[in-house]
Amino acid sequence: MTAKTLFITGGAGFIGSALIRYLITETPCRVVNVDKLTYAGNLESLASVADSERYHFEREDICDAAAMTRLIAHYRPDAIMHLAAESHVDRSISGPAAFIDTNINGTFTLLEAARQYWDGLAGERKAAFRFHHISTDEVYGDLEPGLLFTEETPYAPSSPYSASKAASDHLVRAWQRTYDFPILITNCSNNYGPNHFPEKLIPLMILNALAGKALPIYGDGQQIRDWLYVDDHVRALYCVLSTGKIGETYNIGGHNEKTNLEVVTTLCQILEQLAPDKPAGVANYVDLITYVTDRPGHDLRYAIDASKIQRELGWQPVETFDSGLLKTVEWYINNDAWIENVSSGAYQQWMETHYDD
Ligand code: NAD
Ligand code: TYD
Repeated sequence: MTAKTLFITGGAGFIGSALIRYLITETPCRVVNVDKLTYAGNLESLASVADSERYHFEREDICDAAAMTRLIAHYRPDAIMHLAAESHVDRSISGPAAFIDTNINGTFTLLEAARQYWDGLAGERKAAFRFHHISTDEVYGDLEPGLLFTEETPYAPSSPYSASKAASDHLVRAWQRTYDFPILITNCSNNYGPNHFPEKLIPLMILNALAGKALPIYGDGQQIRDWLYVDDHVRALYCVLSTGKIGETYNIGGHNEKTNLEVVTTLCQILEQLAPDKPAGVANYVDLITYVTDRPGHDLRYAIDASKIQRELGWQPVETFDSGLLKTVEWYINNDAWIENVSSGAYQQWMETHYDD
């Protein structure tokens, strides 16, 4: 049997790049990375696999119907894994339009291009085709103490980000019900790990601490997230793509519920060990913690019941929170160039001169 061709949107982002590194190094798959390269997309995260003859990059916008139709017809994928999205809650509050465009209209555009292609397939190829939509546990909204999100939890998104992801999940599910289009959906908890853009909690806190800057905790820091190491998410995605049942949703989580304050104080403890030479004027990293105005509409708690994917597909995480966090802090300490480029904008300027639209 020939190796599968996977059409991956958002492959230059945090999770997409980890997925592509995994697919190229651990599987025989051929990968087509379709990414617009917004501020969050960074091809440097793919440097270790970019020379593989099984890797192809296409700089395109998923909202461009003609481009999606052309690329899908050209590469004739066996599956589409859709990760491209605007992903940061704070940005969705200050500027929701891009979230509606990419997360809702972009998903619709991609779905239609993919459905037309699938309609034209026949036999084994048609039966084996999958559209895997990668989503978030934030679609379920704020969770009361003692409960866990299951695949049956009703949708109740709170932020423009989570509402746009919820809308995209509904579109994907409707395409299955209405057109018999072969979809899979995964809803995952908060990821962390290397190559994470430093606007999200964990990389922001590591970099601010190393620079001696304030560590801004929203509200009282008692909000709870269920953290999963990005490579565990990636393994779950490949597992669902390979063995998941058409039309099903699978929740993915690490059973690592932590308050934001716990996460930040743990990071400070790790930094005391790994980077004891602190910036001038900093006695202890933890002294940099600063309480700031809370995020509007802030969800207090997320926590995933991942028993379905474990029971039905045999996936479970391999990293503990301690081991994953240690690897993450080490990566940020050892990758100055990546950090400098994403923070300074030099990378985006380089891209502009190398990839004319
Ligand atoms: P990210 O912001 O790091 O990366 C998003 C990628 O999508 C970037 O490379 C960006 O250039 C690309 N992109 C954005 N708009 C595009 C467009 N219109 N056309 C083509 N490409 C476009 O995001 P991430 O954290 O890697 O998240 C990936 C997916 O996983 C998202 O769909 C997100 O909702 C979902 N998710 C993320 C988390 C998390 O904790 N980060 C958890 C669960 C689910
Ligand atoms: P974030 O990484 O933005 O992910 P999400 O909002 O998708 O869960 O934030 C994680 C948690 O950390 C969330 O409860 C908001 C909080 N937070 C802070 O307290 N300070 C910060 O500077 C950031 C970015 C987030």
